[in-house]
Amino acid sequence: MKLNINLNKDKIKDKIKNKIKNKIRNKNKDKLKIKINKIKDKLNWIFYIFLGVFLVNISIFGLGYVGVVTSAYLTSRQHKVVGVDVNALKVSMLNDGICPIVEKDVPELLKKAKENNLISATSDSKEAIFNTELSIICVGTPSMPNGSLDTKYIKSVCEEAGKSIKEKSDKHIFVFRSTMLPGTMRNTVIPILEKYSGKKQNVDFFVVFNPEFLRESTAVYDFYNPPKTVVGSDSMEVANKVISLYEGLPGPMIKTKIEVAEMVKYVDNNFHALKITFTNEIGHICKNIGLDSHEVMDIFMQDTKLNISTYYLKPGFAFGGSCLPKDLRAINYLAKTLDLNVPLLNSLIYSNNNQISYAIRKVISFKKNKIGIAGFSFKEGTDDLRESPLIEVIEALIGKGYDLKLYDRNVSLAKLVGANKEYIETHIPHISALMVDSLDELLEDRDVIIIGNKDPEFNRIINEARDDQKIFDLVRMGDISNARGNYEGICW
Ligand SMILES: NC(=O)c1ccc[n+]([C@@H]2O[C@H](COP(=O)([O-])OP(=O)(O)OC[C@H]3O[C@@H](n4cnc5c(N)ncnc54)[C@H](O)[C@@H]3O)[C@@H](O)[C@H]2O)c1
Repeated sequence: MKLNINLNKDKIKDKIKNKIKNKIRNKNKDKLKIKINKIKDKLNWIFYIFLGVFLVNISIFGLGYVGVVTSAYLTSRQHKVVGVDVNALKVSMLNDGICPIVEKDVPELLKKAKENNLISATSDSKEAIFNTELSIICVGTPSMPNGSLDTKYIKSVCEEAGKSIKEKSDKHIFVFRSTMLPGTMRNTVIPILEKYSGKKQNVDFFVVFNPEFLRESTAVYDFYNPPKTVVGSDSMEVANKVISLYEGLPGPMIKTKIEVAEMVKYVDNNFHALKITFTNEIGHICKNIGLDSHEVMDIFMQDTKLNISTYYLKPGFAFGGSCLPKDLRAINYLAKTLDLNVPLLNSLIYSNNNQISYAIRKVISFKKNKIGIAGFSFKEGTDDLRESPLIEVIEALIGKGYDLKLYDRNVSLAKLVGANKEYIETHIPHISALMVDSLDELLEDRDVIIIGNKDPEFNRIINEARDDQKIFDLVRMGDISNARGNYEGICW
């Protein structure tokens, strides 16, 4: 019994000894960790200076997802940040080093920023602007009930910011990251800033549009690994300054016009929505015919030439030919027989027809009678006229009594020896009769020349057409930098 008690005592003693040892070891480890982190931060600082990153004092308006993640990122690059929000709770949380959003890795980055004295927050926008050289605006831009963009938070920040720079002699830079429709910067943001400051953009202050591409839940990873960085600005110098905040990040660094940068964000998000909706509709069809949609899409995604690629992404004319319209009709019919609602797939033929009728209406609007069509097979390098959308344009114009001449060297060849000879003679003899033998015949006497496909021969139309000849380009023929006032693209 005595022996047992002694053994237990020894065990407890050993346990306490070990605990104390561990505590000392952990304390030393923590101290070491803090030291290593401090050295790391200093090295980071030297690294960013070495990269040419200019360290700036930055105010960030709007402490939501974008604002907080942006703050965390910028402080990790040793910039000093002051967050501004109308929400007092968010301000005090940030001042206490507490992250006001739920997002992986952000609390740790903010804690570090607080330890290094790189972050603070305020609700006083004037003070924030006075103490910083650059402001990043990340306030919300929600939807109104009718779907329009609600810019009230943007307007209120601009009013405050305008008043704040009124007495500031330095040329402040405003970087807008909130998603806004093209034209909002030019027609809303700049006028408000100018009105309340009494100053001029590009002279006394600068604005930049810099869309944000992060996704919630992977926001920090996305911030350090952006697909691209886009900076829209009127000034190359200011664009370069803003780009330098992101120096060293992967992906292309793109400088462009403000309006283009505004639009890019919508194109991205709408395309993502399109992909999700498309694949969900395909998923329902697959499920209903007993196929695993994920297996189907895995195979689809392995085609990086036509599917997951840049192909088919430049605006132009309607699709046609012997496959796309037929296969779209077949899959829509299949969905119908399965009692499935596939509104996106249904809408494609409708949207395509819309592009054809738009072209016809546009030609009518030119109010000219002699029309020449250069290229009318469904694409260059083929004589295939089946379901060529150009045939619909031609037939509509014939029906309305226009004087038409058509030229397409691939179709002319087919007329003499080609496999489509019979199709031309039996299905579209009225079209065959309007064909001429050379492009020069169109250039000679037509009032309007429609470029219908990308045959390289048509490159010379832009240079050789007379000023009084209208060029209507359905395909964006090569380099249009020489285009004059007589040129019009269908959707550019
Ligand atoms: N959340 C995303 O994943 C994401 C990604 C890319 C782009 N965006 C865009 O970024 C913008 C911000 O989005 P979010 O999700 O961060 O918004 P959010 O709603 O989470 O945060 C906006 C913040 O702005 C504050 N605010 C409103 N008026 C203010 C003012 N006058 N001064 C200072 N602060 C003010 C609000 O109190 C709020 O804290 C939106 O335009 C959004 O479309 C969001």
